[in-house]
Amino acid sequence: MSEAKKLFIKTYGCQMNVYDSERMAEAMGAQGYVTTENAEEADMVLLNTCHIREKAAEKVYSDLGRLRPLKQAKPGMKIGVAGCVAQAEGAEILRRMPLVDLVVGPQSYHRLPEMLTRTGNGAQVIDTDFPAEDKFDHLPERKALRGPSAFLTVQEGCDKFCAFCVVPYTRGAEVSRPAQRLLSEARALVEKGVRDITLLGQNVNAYHGDGWGLARLIRELARIEGLQRIRYMTSHPNDMEDDLVAAHGDEPKLMPYLHLPVQSGSDRILKAMNRKHTAEQYLRLIERIRAARPDILLTSDFIVGFPGETDADFEATMSLVRAVGYGAAYTFKYSARPGTPAAEKPELPAEVADARLQALQALITRQQRAAQEAMVGREVGVLYDKPGRLPGQMVGKSDHLHAVHVTDPEGQVGQLVRVRITASSTNSLAAELARA
Ligand code: SAH
Ligand code: SF4
Ligand code: F3S
Repeated sequence: MSEAKKLFIKTYGCQMNVYDSERMAEAMGAQGYVTTENAEEADMVLLNTCHIREKAAEKVYSDLGRLRPLKQAKPGMKIGVAGCVAQAEGAEILRRMPLVDLVVGPQSYHRLPEMLTRTGNGAQVIDTDFPAEDKFDHLPERKALRGPSAFLTVQEGCDKFCAFCVVPYTRGAEVSRPAQRLLSEARALVEKGVRDITLLGQNVNAYHGDGWGLARLIRELARIEGLQRIRYMTSHPNDMEDDLVAAHGDEPKLMPYLHLPVQSGSDRILKAMNRKHTAEQYLRLIERIRAARPDILLTSDFIVGFPGETDADFEATMSLVRAVGYGAAYTFKYSARPGTPAAEKPELPAEVADARLQALQALITRQQRAAQEAMVGREVGVLYDKPGRLPGQMVGKSDHLHAVHVTDPEGQVGQLVRVRITASSTNSLAAELARA
């Protein structure tokens, strides 16, 4: 038998790309490819790219440049570009980078094996359609997974058109996958040992497959025996329906964790961003969520240095952060993206944006520490995902998604235990098993 061909995939950007990369690896697996961590031994290299900020997009071109000597040493090697840069820049990639054999947009991954055969005679192949058929229906079944946690994409695309964002262009309009399909995919994952599922979507709380909202989908998933934890991301504040807020209060498998990006605390900037909510509306929403689930850990995304942002606007962001008290947050410096409305506006001086980014990051880091320290002495669930570095130690995620080191010589990967948190360090918590 000839040796299996090797596939190297590099994933940039969001969790939806992580999920897509797994599905593409499975599709290529059906063609006899096994994955490798080493690009040098690969017969095919696939870059699953992100277009969200300029840096992320430019990284793809420098990574492609670095693949050139590999391909020269191994002329049969195929190089593919997938993901949001593929969708946004399409043929431009083939022009700038003649070493690329194929460019495939996020909605066409099921066509990847067939596209690859068409590159046989050295042709460059491109597919950035938004086909009518659902790529997921045409991809092979889920394979064995590495740990007890898995992603499940339930919705793709976005209709919100925030003024800074490329996603509505790269991923297209909102599409929800049929609920029954998702229930059977979730059951298959649980049969393969998955205990913890994070539902993914660009705008996941707008899910409306088969006329079900996200809350209904979560409640039906929660009935799957063996599935122990459910989370979802990323949500838009305007789509937090009452039944979803209620589910945080009464669905025990829905974890006390919510990523709810607000981007800015200034109403003037929120308006310019086309976010369609005010800071006050966001804060009221947080109150309702906390009324349903008082111990919920909240996280967010922020953009600083959006065009026109004044010191007072930035101060409004700082005071919103102080008012909420986040468990963690991503902070980004505004990056002008071609084709978005905000890119038409003059940018702030880089030093101003840098200083604001630092100030916001410092505040968030303090809040993150405080949230971790507040866990000390409390009893929480931990799902083990791997053995720890020390003997007799396991590492897992808490209900609130903190990394936790637990002393438990009998612990098994995939086991859900109750622990008491004993200490907090920079990026993780330490715990001992709770006494029954
Ligand atoms: N769908 C999600 C997030 C999509 S992108 C949501 O609506 O929140 C992830 C994050 O990247 C965004 O929340 C935003 O904070 C950031 N982002 C998006 N476009 C950006 C840009 N042009 N410059 C800087 N950050 C950006
Ligand atoms: Fe982008 Fe999120 Fe806004 Fe959609 S809701 S346009 S994905 S930031
Ligand atoms: Fe990036 Fe596309 Fe995700 S732009 S953040 S990979 S949807």
